[in-house]
Amino acid sequence: MSSTSILNSKKIAVSGKGGVGKTTFAGLLSCLLAEDSNRVVAIDADPDMNLASVLGSETPPPLTSYKDLIEERVSMGNGLFRYNPKVDDILDRFGIITPCGVRLLVMGTLEKGGTGCMCPASSFLRALLRYLLKTDMLIVMDMEAGIEHLGRGTAKGFDVMIVVVENGLKAVQTAERIKKLSRDIGIENVVAVLNKVRGECDKVVNLLEELNIPILGMIPFDEGVVRAEIEGMPPYEVAKDALKAIRDIKNKLISENY
Ligand SMILES: Nc1ncnc2c1ncn2[C@@H]1O[C@H](COP(=O)(O)OP(=O)(O)OP(=O)(O)O)[C@@H](O)[C@H]1O
Ligand SMILES: [Mg+2]
Repeated sequence: MSSTSILNSKKIAVSGKGGVGKTTFAGLLSCLLAEDSNRVVAIDADPDMNLASVLGSETPPPLTSYKDLIEERVSMGNGLFRYNPKVDDILDRFGIITPCGVRLLVMGTLEKGGTGCMCPASSFLRALLRYLLKTDMLIVMDMEAGIEHLGRGTAKGFDVMIVVVENGLKAVQTAERIKKLSRDIGIENVVAVLNKVRGECDKVVNLLEELNIPILGMIPFDEGVVRAEIEGMPPYEVAKDALKAIRDIKNKLISENY
């Protein structure tokens, strides 16, 4: 099996503290993976829905906005929901193809009520994720900030959890909690990516080492990423330094088979 085909069906979740660069990283990594594979699916699992713009596309209507479809697929009447609704057509129907060849699915927002949302949309999205994780697609999921969703088990079944960390104690503390919760839901492979690196970051590197979280790579602070955001263009066209670092990370993901 070639090294690329080993990576071909990997399921990668990207998490971290708010604002560290999860979406930028997940988007650029997806684009780079799509250079070698036409089976890359990027999932925007953050209610803020920013992944499309990093991928150079307009944000499509999120899946949660298709209320009638979800109701029809999930509800059995009497307030009961199907555990395994039909979801095998969703990627083809609603996944958009971005300019860099990634297929993008935007999940949307779950209405929260009480502990653990049991609304039809939640059942539907969970079933969809379970289905996608069983396919041979190469999946990159951009998660919402923090750790609450991990508690709800949203990332269960992924092969690797990449925690994006920036130079600061808070981001490392979040990484520590993410590692613990990832283990709780069965993800053993938890690695870090240091983002927006400028100047010395020995302290963060040492802390991550102490926590036994391997550092997959370091992405420099890249003015190109900032410019892309200001000018409303996808960062892969201008963020050369960040892209180079993410390419190294992609190669590491392949060669070390995380
Ligand atoms: N390597 C980088 N160099 C410079 N700026 C960056 C870099 N990575 C991300 N940024 C900038 O940092 C900000 C946050 O990035 P991004 O939206 O990717 O973070 P996030 O972790 O997904 O945020 P959120 O928690 O809100 O989802 C953005 O303005 C983005 O342009
Ligand atoms: Mg984000």
